[in-house]
Amino acid sequence: MARLAEAAERVLSRSATAALQYAPTEGVAAMRQAVAARAAETGAAVGPERVMVTGGSQQGLDLVAQTLIDEGDEVALDDPSYLGAVQVFRRAGARLLPVPTDRDGMRVDVLAERLTAGARPKAVYVVPHFHNPTGGVLSEERRRLLAGLAERYGFLVVEDDPYGDLGFGGGRLPSTDVHSGRVVRLMSLSKTLCPGLRVAGLVAPAGLIGELVAAKQSSDLQTNTFGQYLLAELLADPDFLPSHLARLRTLYGGRARATAALLRELLPWLAFEEPRGGLFFWCTVDDPRVTSDVLYERALAEGVAIVPGTPFCIEQDGSRVLRLSFATLDEEQRREGAARLATAFEKARTDAY
Ligand SMILES: Cc1ncc(COP(=O)(O)O)c(C=O)c1O
Repeated sequence: MARLAEAAERVLSRSATAALQYAPTEGVAAMRQAVAARAAETGAAVGPERVMVTGGSQQGLDLVAQTLIDEGDEVALDDPSYLGAVQVFRRAGARLLPVPTDRDGMRVDVLAERLTAGARPKAVYVVPHFHNPTGGVLSEERRRLLAGLAERYGFLVVEDDPYGDLGFGGGRLPSTDVHSGRVVRLMSLSKTLCPGLRVAGLVAPAGLIGELVAAKQSSDLQTNTFGQYLLAELLADPDFLPSHLARLRTLYGGRARATAALLRELLPWLAFEEPRGGLFFWCTVDDPRVTSDVLYERALAEGVAIVPGTPFCIEQDGSRVLRLSFATLDEEQRREGAARLATAFEKARTDAY
């Protein structure tokens, strides 16, 4: 917040007129450049002409769907998947082609089988690091395979990567765009800087960017100018992002480990793999009598919120899975939350008899 306040001072004293005016639909030049630089650090080199600044990655996703998908077109995606993506593709009239997913991300071998059997998705949507909700990371080998399939079958890979910088070990894999040009990258800053500004980067193939810009123009003219100036100002300091991300990884990594220990202690009926990054625990209720929907209701009554699995699931059974977030809780809140969830579980189990 202090760094944003300083950046705001500088922007207002040096560039107020431009920062408070309308700006080009594709984005302010300095922000497009910052996105292109970050894209090159984490994937293939791109020029700013292939970048559009969007109102969050959610808008990027919506514009891609509007531009690409006609009623009845197929879109392949992990099952379970990010709910916001499921909503966007459904609203665009897509037929969803759910693909199973595991710790290494989308089962690209299963996707390949479906393609061989005749499926022809226009797009394949992936969350390549610390998937929401499963926490999976699309492996290097599967990225290569997916890129090869995109080239062969002509679909577009939509790579939505808000959590890539939140690996607790610090590492991340290069974007699928190092293997294929048929990739749209959605580069959110919401999970590492501030979701409230609604400023994200989108990188698209040269042949698509014009159409995306036209779709955005008719939707909202442009992303807010002042927010773009602010973030461009912050990102212009080469030391800012690396040191900020290092702090976040240490903070969230510590919270994830502490949460895991607490869940094992207080909620032994909850099965999970410890997250390697991101913001979530994806858990299975290890008791056939309690569904995550019932637990959700019971938990709310005890004053703690969980996210039941059903809304994320397309074909998979979501009735025993749930998502927990550890990101914003301090030690006391964590313990209290877990204790309330333990009470909720006991009540749900007793009800079930
Ligand atoms: C996978 C995924 N994509 C996109 C978003 C939305 O990002 P933004 O705030 O940049 O719109 C989220 C937020 O939860 C997310 O988990």
